[in-house]
Amino acid sequence: MGEDEDAAAAGGERATHFGFQTVPEAAKAGLVRDVFTSVASRYDLMNDLMSGGLHRLWKDAMMDWLAPRAGQRLLDVAGGTGDIAFRFLARAPEARAVVCDLTESMLVAGRARAEAARLADRLDWVAGDAMALPFAGAGFDACTISFGLRNVTRPETALAEVFRILRPGGRLMVLEFSHVAPALLARAYDRYSFAVIPALGEVVTGDRASYRYLVESIRRFPDQERLAAMLRDAGFGLVRWRNLSFGVAALHSGWKL
Ligand SMILES: C[S@@+](CC[C@H](N)C(=O)[O-])C[C@H]1O[C@@H](n2cnc3c(N)ncnc32)[C@H](O)[C@@H]1O
Repeated sequence: MGEDEDAAAAGGERATHFGFQTVPEAAKAGLVRDVFTSVASRYDLMNDLMSGGLHRLWKDAMMDWLAPRAGQRLLDVAGGTGDIAFRFLARAPEARAVVCDLTESMLVAGRARAEAARLADRLDWVAGDAMALPFAGAGFDACTISFGLRNVTRPETALAEVFRILRPGGRLMVLEFSHVAPALLARAYDRYSFAVIPALGEVVTGDRASYRYLVESIRRFPDQERLAAMLRDAGFGLVRWRNLSFGVAALHSGWKL
């Protein structure tokens, strides 16, 4: 939480950001759930339209770096409709995956896709909050968080939770929107984001506000170095990151050593 939000916290209640708004910390998860409940049925289509299909390449790059192996067990936190879990299972024979997400409608959309792709027998879908993962012990070989951490009220708590559920030697990989370095590109990206994405959201999902939240939340999220420091603070070792598409997105990797 930043100092502005500290100052905005009224009557001792903690505050946080929801896009560019300051909201009580206790309200954020509900607002985030409303966003994804509203867009769930059109979520996958919107990803393709907004990014011109680029999100598929970024998710493939995540898998290239993670290099799934046969028999591994993945937890995909904030896994939504399952894009990452599907890719993981496609590359790792006899592996299993659990998709954990706050929003029931995203899980419902994902489960339907898994049945169509005949992956349902290797996948579990669990409703849960990244800040209190509903798993005991350290049983997962790998954990992924793809475009999810930005939405979590206290990302530090989610990272600590992931550290808890990974087995020693397990690996976390985070894919998230990040900060574009070349100034000219950053300006063009900003214009595109604020002018086009909410308008597209309105046409495709009937919900402009949810896509304005998306654009705003990206601006509020820590940059590449700061996120790397957050992984280290949560206990991860060998933390590395790399930019995708000049920093529009970034991949972070860390190990529970
Ligand atoms: C942008 S979607 C990403 C979905 C998927 N990982 C992908 O890459 O396509 C963000 C997801 O994070 C979930 N989410 C947000 N806050 C969460 C939390 N605190 N715990 C678990 N899931 C959360 C939302 O419900 C939503 O499905």
